[in-house]
Amino acid sequence: MTDVVTPGLFITLEGGDGSGKSTQAQLLTDWLEAAGHTVVRTREPGGTEVGVEIRQIVLHHRGEVSPRAEALLYAADRAQHVATLVRPALARGEIVIQDRYLDSSVAYQGAGRVLGGPEVRDLSLWAAEGLLPHLTLLLDLDETAARGRLDADNKVFDRLEAEKGEFHARVRAAFLDLAAAEPDRFLVLDAAAPIDEIAAVIRARVATLL
Ligand code: TYD
Repeated sequence: MTDVVTPGLFITLEGGDGSGKSTQAQLLTDWLEAAGHTVVRTREPGGTEVGVEIRQIVLHHRGEVSPRAEALLYAADRAQHVATLVRPALARGEIVIQDRYLDSSVAYQGAGRVLGGPEVRDLSLWAAEGLLPHLTLLLDLDETAARGRLDADNKVFDRLEAEKGEFHARVRAAFLDLAAAEPDRFLVLDAAAPIDEIAAVIRARVATLL
């Protein structure tokens, strides 16, 4: 399946829970907007009205959600998001900055839930009609540091965050494997570095794409 060429720029942020994706997405958005670019800042799951409902099920449903149902829910969220928000923005020539995309499905459902990376990737690509990001920023953080940040936030864990250490270790390894397999699309960042340092590395890379 091939990507559909669009005039805009599609940048995704990936990484484990607590790796600082949202902070970096916001800093990048502010920098691009200050330079006069139109930016659409969004996320998965939950970037559309339908997605908000799916997000509620997939993250907060109290009973069992089977691994395949979970993968399909993320894929459904993605299909709606890409069709109604991401592609139209890219077609208008805008910059889409998005927390999480198909690499999260490959890492969390493919490796975390052990459904198999290639199958989950194919499912996502089908949902998104082949749309791949121009750049994916991977905020890599070891499990202990990530857990420490989440605990410090004092939040109630969602279904994925509540998973055990081995689950998150598989997720992290899968993200790094994805980055190694597509070095041109991925920029791997040490999420333990100071926020401003990470932001500067991101800006330098994004500047080459503008
Ligand atoms: P996120 O919005 O980053 O969580 P939070 O609001 O707590 O920062 O992501 C929600 C969870 O969904 C996160 O644990 C990762 C998971 N996820 C998947 O398992 N598969 C996917 O395809 C996506 C997009 C997210």
